[in-house]
Amino acid sequence: MAIAAIEAEELTRVYGSLRAVDGVSFTVEPGEIFGFLGPNGAGKTTTVRMLTTILTPTDGTARIFGHDIRRDSYGARLQFGVVPEESNVYLELSAWQNLLFSARLYRIPSHDARLRAERLLQLFGLWGRHQEKVQVFSRGMRRKVAIAMSLIHEPRLLFLDEPTSGLDVQSTRAIHELIRHLNQQGTTVFLTTHRMEEAQSLCTRIAIINRGRLATVDTPTKLRRTLQQLQAVEVQIDGLTKAEEEALQALPTVVRALRRGSALRLYTPEPVETIRELLRYADENGKKIAALETLQPSLEEVFLYLTEGIEGVTVGEQAVPQAAKLGSERGGKR
Ligand SMILES: Nc1ncnc2c1ncn2[C@@H]1O[C@H](COP(=O)(O)OP(=O)(O)O)[C@@H](O)[C@H]1O
Ligand SMILES: [Mg+2]
Repeated sequence: MAIAAIEAEELTRVYGSLRAVDGVSFTVEPGEIFGFLGPNGAGKTTTVRMLTTILTPTDGTARIFGHDIRRDSYGARLQFGVVPEESNVYLELSAWQNLLFSARLYRIPSHDARLRAERLLQLFGLWGRHQEKVQVFSRGMRRKVAIAMSLIHEPRLLFLDEPTSGLDVQSTRAIHELIRHLNQQGTTVFLTTHRMEEAQSLCTRIAIINRGRLATVDTPTKLRRTLQQLQAVEVQIDGLTKAEEEALQALPTVVRALRRGSALRLYTPEPVETIRELLRYADENGKKIAALETLQPSLEEVFLYLTEGIEGVTVGEQAVPQAAKLGSERGGKR
């Protein structure tokens, strides 16, 4: 079996009383685009900083292509490139100068550095503007410069900490294409994101992290199934009696219902069908629908579902008897 690109073992970082990263273990195989998905403050950046040897773990360790980040941090560092959350691009330098600067950090001979810098800038569509100061570049172009810089020593593993955050749709798409391209050329990618769609569309496997803890490592297909279970239709019908509420809860596609103020939230794997059923019900019973909305689950909900389950919704094959904690925690962040 090939040696793992990343093997994290009980990786932990404590800040005072906060366990920012709490016993995180996972393996990334060569050739993967591995997604580290979690809401703000989940511990993504802290994990990346530990894996890239910027930050020493409080406990646990990791190996990067076999090099222990604690005992052999130099060896580990030669294996990867990293695009940190905060830009490390020098605005007063040109793209060309930024790349050559990175090359010097890795002691790449000048001739090779120039060849590689040109090739990367061509690949990233920045050749032709490479002599301009990065200052005049758009956010998307700056992000490309940062990624190009991280590739100058031709690493086999690339860490990208929220590579598309703050970018418009077009730049996001361009960065996604680049990531796919690099991956097809053989680069293993570890990327963090707080956007489920991004993880879904790019990654071979997705780890979900929240409050320093990993909930699961799964394929996008399995995650999609989970998301489906957590979809809901929220409906507002004035003057609904208890019996009528129960009738709605008993609609064929509805798995579970939850009262939200004056609205009723109906969980369903088939929102479109549920809406049809609702309209029919309202029609037949002379009820007026005041508002109707389809809701996708928040990342918090997905995390809670994966770690604790929800009453009435099944996890895998098993029904989960545990009472839902969701009632008090949901809302806000969708
Ligand atoms: N240097 C630090 N000192 C104290 N707390 C920190 C420090 N860095 C991060 N944290 C805390 O650790 C948690 C995880 O942060 P971070 O890894 O940046 O999350 P993410 O990247 O997922 O948004 C947060 O609660 C954050 O406030
Ligand atoms: Mg972060």
